[in-house]
Amino acid sequence: MKKIFLVLFATTLLTFSTRADEGMWLPSQISEKIKEMQEKGLELSAADLYSLEQVSLKDGIVQFGRGCTGELISAEGLLITNHHCGYGQIQAHSSVEHDYLTNGFWAMNRSEELPNPGLTVRFLVRMEDVTEAVLNGYVSTMSEEQRLETVAKNSKKIIEEAQKEGISYSADILPLFYGNVYYMFVYQVFSDVRLVGAPPSSIGKFGGDTDNWMWPRHTGDFSIFRIYADKNNNPAPYSEENVPYRPKHFFNISLDGVQEGDFTFVYGFPGSTREYILSSEVDYIANISNPAKIDLRTQRLDIQRKYMESSPAVRIQYASKNAGIANAWKKWQGEAKGIKRLETVAQKRALEESFKSWAADKPQYNGLVEKMDSVILSYRDELFATEYFNESALSVELVRFAGNYLKADPQKREQLAQSFYKDFYLPIDKEIFVAVINSFIRDVDQCYYPDYFKALLEKYDSDLNAMAQEFFSNTAFADQQRLQSTPEEILSNDVMILFYNAFNDLYRELGAKVTTSVKELNLLYRSYMRGLMEFQTDRLFYPDANLTLRIAYGEVKGYSPADGIYYHPSSSLEGIMEKDNPEIYDYNIPQRLRDIYATKDYGRWEENGSVPVAFIATNHTTGGNSGSPVIDAEGNLIGINFDRVWEGTMSDIVFDPTVCRNIALDIRYALFVIDKVAGASHLLDEMVFVEENGTNAMNE
Ligand code: ARG
Ligand code: ASP
Repeated sequence: MKKIFLVLFATTLLTFSTRADEGMWLPSQISEKIKEMQEKGLELSAADLYSLEQVSLKDGIVQFGRGCTGELISAEGLLITNHHCGYGQIQAHSSVEHDYLTNGFWAMNRSEELPNPGLTVRFLVRMEDVTEAVLNGYVSTMSEEQRLETVAKNSKKIIEEAQKEGISYSADILPLFYGNVYYMFVYQVFSDVRLVGAPPSSIGKFGGDTDNWMWPRHTGDFSIFRIYADKNNNPAPYSEENVPYRPKHFFNISLDGVQEGDFTFVYGFPGSTREYILSSEVDYIANISNPAKIDLRTQRLDIQRKYMESSPAVRIQYASKNAGIANAWKKWQGEAKGIKRLETVAQKRALEESFKSWAADKPQYNGLVEKMDSVILSYRDELFATEYFNESALSVELVRFAGNYLKADPQKREQLAQSFYKDFYLPIDKEIFVAVINSFIRDVDQCYYPDYFKALLEKYDSDLNAMAQEFFSNTAFADQQRLQSTPEEILSNDVMILFYNAFNDLYRELGAKVTTSVKELNLLYRSYMRGLMEFQTDRLFYPDANLTLRIAYGEVKGYSPADGIYYHPSSSLEGIMEKDNPEIYDYNIPQRLRDIYATKDYGRWEENGSVPVAFIATNHTTGGNSGSPVIDAEGNLIGINFDRVWEGTMSDIVFDPTVCRNIALDIRYALFVIDKVAGASHLLDEMVFVEENGTNAMNE
């Protein structure tokens, strides 16, 4: 039986294509897609993309930190990713005297490149189907719990062996298709990664949250790092003795520009998609979960913005937090809208109905969907309460901080407090407390209230303003000095701690219940996935994204966001100048850029009298793909992926080729900024440019 599934999966994994450009493909199986890619314009072979025998494109791509992608662009370890991916590092090096966030940073020589403790990048060495080895000892009578134990035990051994294969190797084994298949991913990890350059936020974050998730876009979202290695070119912890890493592969940069219809592909580390979930789950996401979370975040954002607008200091303190909250807030709205527009719930329901009829005479699938629906319903209320708790009570900064502080290693507390209070403004938090707890009372069933909370409501007669007033003045967590002069035994009875603990105890329990149900559901999805593949023989199946290396391909293409409107696929400096406004923080470009525009001194980066800035294409991407190389038919770098368009943000659940577009920075805009705005043209000397179909354009 098991054998049959494996064969089935090996052959259906990447075959059949009906919906254009949907999919995030495993590089190790790209040979099954290569013909289609070539028909669409690719001029490379499968082995050029991924190979264990020869150097391939994958050797020039890294997972950057925990949630982004980056690619090598010189023989000396130079790496490019997004500005928003390097944001934490840029911020960490910034101070009032050296405000790199505002002014940008450019190392003018190697000795000025800045180390980043904690930042790692990893190259994929290989990926391998380990399903059989991982399931060794598993028998179908086992429970899901026992199956997971077997998988964990087998995986541990396999991983240990793989990690011995090379210096600084690290391996993961992950399920694909809900555990029908298991893959091992072996990486080499580098931990000396230095900041080389970043444009000012007025370029790197141009348009801010107003333009985020939108097209047309003009954000110069890039930053540059360099990987260092020891003298033998092996990974090593930071050391002054380290030298620039010599990568097996780095990307040549195309200066040819992009045209509508050009073939492109994106090679990177997409984080998470859920393309195969049932209609009832989609319904929950679009109609219950997203609206509730959006509402809570709208309140928090409004409160933060009110204070940010009235104080420059608060604006800086809350810049990064506010951006983080706004990012998902905006995406959820686009996602829910897209799901409604596509009628995904009804579409999926229809599919499930026909699946049910097809399954009627197949004992292994008959009744499966019904069973899944009943599991989904059985824990929906707990799931909702848990999600709501996370977005409300746990979004109160002092509540969360108090919990983390007491749990932290006492030696690390001072540092924790330092970084927390630096960016904390109590009036914001107090107002948010009142708002989100009010919503919690309105939206969450009383059976999910901790007893302690019920007692509080009684005590304050549900007057949350009064409750907040007392909480925020009584708590030792109100400021750092007070906190650090309060003895531990008093702290453990602090109002914030009592509040946190009461919720945490109850919600840990609820969380465990949710996890158990998710496991049970996962087991059913495993069968459903197999059934779907047998049922929909003309559909293409690719494993959901899980932060592993994938290839998505498509073409440069505009789209129509609404009746009567058509969006062209590329943007230019003209659009930046149209948006430029010294009065609006997010649109206030550096004076230097205005001066360059006035003199039209664009040098070799000029195109049609302007400078190209960004473009869109039909590649299927998601969070984690940020920083991914956008590559042309010959394997040259043409752009850096950084976002998706608003109308297509439901692509994590359902992909619509008419509006789903990834947004890429045109690589020539990055080069223009480095050369003309930053005056860091020495970096260009390390890069290799190609022009006119592959001829090598020597550096001038
Ligand atoms: N929307 C992009 C992504 O999901 C860019 C985010 C940058 N952050 C921001 N708040 N503008 O990561
Ligand atoms: N902006 C996302 C990222 O940071 C990419 C996306 O969601 O399309 O990975």
